[in-house]
Amino acid sequence: MNARPTRILGIDTSCDDTGVGVVELAPDGGIRVLANRVWSQTIHASYGGVMPELASREHVERIDAVTGDALAEAGLTVEDVDVVAATSGPGLVGALLVGLMYGKGLAQALGVPFYAAHHLEGHIFAAASEAELRPPYLALVVSGGHTHLFDVPREGEYVLVGATRDDAAGEAFDKIARLAGLGYPGGPAISEAAQRGDPEAVPFKEPLKGQKGFDFSFSGLKTAALLAHRAGARPEDLAAGFERAAVSFLLKTTLRAAQAHGRDTVVVSGGVAANRALREAFAASPVRAVFPGQGLNTDNGAMIALAGAAALRAGRPPSPLSEGAVAYAPLANA
Ligand code: KG4
Ligand code: ZN
Repeated sequence: MNARPTRILGIDTSCDDTGVGVVELAPDGGIRVLANRVWSQTIHASYGGVMPELASREHVERIDAVTGDALAEAGLTVEDVDVVAATSGPGLVGALLVGLMYGKGLAQALGVPFYAAHHLEGHIFAAASEAELRPPYLALVVSGGHTHLFDVPREGEYVLVGATRDDAAGEAFDKIARLAGLGYPGGPAISEAAQRGDPEAVPFKEPLKGQKGFDFSFSGLKTAALLAHRAGARPEDLAAGFERAAVSFLLKTTLRAAQAHGRDTVVVSGGVAANRALREAFAASPVRAVFPGQGLNTDNGAMIALAGAAALRAGRPPSPLSEGAVAYAPLANA
């Protein structure tokens, strides 16, 4: 019915990144990323964690410029936007509110539909930048705040198969990197140091060995790293040993779940999906592993635009403009 592609602008301000992206949905259902701009806040570095009030304030200051940059990158003007999508949760409420209100205001001013998006659904749909993503599939979301494994039997239906019992995967990378003095964010720092280390030097036991379910846990690996650090282990050996143990644990658990649910496609997304060792391990595994494209692993706006495009394509009705921001919002609905 629509002769030209539909342009969807997506916004994510759930934590400390101001992300705006633009995707287009072709009349044949094909989805393409046109732009992805992220302003990563550095103001929190000296606090050792994200300061919610500062994050909100920075989003307010940056959102308009980042949106302008994303539209320029896409070669569009604001009048070309057909649909607006923004993250409504989960995340820091004050931070979420900035992108959500900006998105709703923009949709209302332009007179176009608005979609409130779930942050984790955004992470999953980031992989739609690389491959046609149609259920059924399994989705592993591994970020700084989440380690969740979902079965996706149908479009828009998410069944929680497993989750972390303590730290998120990215959180473990960040904490061990800090312990070993490797810097922040920990994921890339560990990955880089691991290449110079000996993965055999520090013993790391497989977490939750023998479990029947598909849960995750990183506290044991963290304790092992702490004890080894106190005993004088080299940071690069800690990094190599931890990375290998974490990757093997994530892979094994996910492959068991894929087999149990009869899925041969696995989406791996979230910040930790940028990890090279994890990508190589999944690529060499028997499942068809789909990862987000470059710049789409960590928090961004294009993934929210991709989730909006998928919702639109599936015929989901737009969200009411009364939609609020929510700190806690489970994705699984079954
Ligand atoms: O998805 P994201 O930007 O934020 C959340 O929604 O939490 O993920 C950030 C997390 C951080 O913990 C960071 O250390 C981790 O992703 N990360 C990585 C890599 N790049 C980022 N972890 C492992 N290897 C990487 N290359
Ligand atoms: Zn995230």
